[in-house]
Amino acid sequence: MEAPLFLSMLLPVHSVLLELPKLCPECLPETLETEYFGGRPGQDPPRLSWPVSAEVFEQAARSGKVLILENASAGMALEGWSCERLSQEFPDAKMRREYDWVKNPQDQNLQDFSKMSWTSAQEQGEDADERLRQDSSAPPFAPFYWGVREHQQGNLGSKKVMKRIRDLITTSVPSFMDKKNAASLFDNAEFWMGAKGTGARAHMDSHCISTLSVVLHGERRWRIGPVPRLPKGAGRSPKGEVVFDDGVAYQLGWKPMFEFTLKEGEAVLFPPGWIHETLNTAEGCTIALTTQFDIPVPVRYYRTFYNRLRRVGDLNACWEWMVKWAGGKVSKDLAQAKTMAQEMFSKTGAKLKQQQVDFFDLNEDGNVTQDEFVSTFVAWTATEQAIKKEKPKSLPKCDMAWDDKVLLKEGEL
Ligand SMILES: *[C@@H]1O[C@H](CO)[C@@H](O)[C@H](O)[C@H]1NC(C)=O
Ligand SMILES: *[C@@H]1O[C@H](CO)[C@@H](O)[C@H](O)[C@H]1NC(C)=O
Repeated sequence: MEAPLFLSMLLPVHSVLLELPKLCPECLPETLETEYFGGRPGQDPPRLSWPVSAEVFEQAARSGKVLILENASAGMALEGWSCERLSQEFPDAKMRREYDWVKNPQDQNLQDFSKMSWTSAQEQGEDADERLRQDSSAPPFAPFYWGVREHQQGNLGSKKVMKRIRDLITTSVPSFMDKKNAASLFDNAEFWMGAKGTGARAHMDSHCISTLSVVLHGERRWRIGPVPRLPKGAGRSPKGEVVFDDGVAYQLGWKPMFEFTLKEGEAVLFPPGWIHETLNTAEGCTIALTTQFDIPVPVRYYRTFYNRLRRVGDLNACWEWMVKWAGGKVSKDLAQAKTMAQEMFSKTGAKLKQQQVDFFDLNEDGNVTQDEFVSTFVAWTATEQAIKKEKPKSLPKCDMAWDDKVLLKEGEL
């Protein structure tokens, strides 16, 4: 067993963190990923053992940390559900197999739950050989996907099925999480299932909120890593561009930051944009519930990695939020930005909303000082100006490293 992890270990003091080179001298700094996320690079992220404290979870989630949560399914209505159990409970539900775009270009839900052979199916899926050539650790077989999040579009099961799964998920909010997340846990729910060797290939999602994925039954290996660095001159994605679709991470020589196996009942928490891959490793069929939650939004993470998150196209839906938290209006010059920030602070400093507090509260004491507000606003303005100068490129020149120590200097946040 690991020693319990305390809040102070999750949220190290900023002044000792190492910084990456900035986009411009006045710009917001980015923290060295291994320092920010901790854990054991190449192996496990930090682990929280049972019972996970709600306060520790909420602080970690606000900072967009990556964590393994032990016994996350304890007390959930879906605790211990196997692939077979899900099929028996919902015999008329329908799902699909991933990487089937030649035979199923419209992503229709062609697989009946009740045709049980799916629980042992090991089918490659399109381009499997190529992906394995690019990265021999990639999952060899295609998983099954029940996209409950698509409930508005229908064709996942009868009304009765959808009502029942809604009830099961909304009554399955983990004990460490804010109960107000029940609706978002359902609205974003996906069941990922399959025999040994099935799994999702490395990709980035476009969600702006954090992900929690719980192994209900079986065992799965995760490989996961941060949004790649985007140095000065690397360009920026035009709005609407998806960069890390199937295969791209492997082509670019992706090296995950964490590799670990979740046992039944364990969950992983990770923030928006993390590239992730799964591999079901249990002998039988493994089933996981993967979903996102609204509260809290990982605003501190957005500030800490602003430069890359604001430029990678997969997260373009989040750009408007990022700009809004910071104050919305980008001045042409930094002296003007400073005056503007001083005026804004004297008018609204005491009335900042939680998400704005998280954006400006550098020392995370819950209180935004005038100095924190003004310096962060000016640095944000400079960062926005520098980002605008980057050339739009469908595939920005990502730096896939997260472990090189060459370009670092002491932080001065
Ligand atoms: C937590 O998980 C361990 C290992 O899977 C299990 O033995 C234990 O009973 C679980 N505890 C709770 C409270 O669910
Ligand atoms: C926040 O800081 C101000 C100025 O330093 C101080 O007057 C105020 O009491 C602080 N509030 C909290 C909640 O710490």
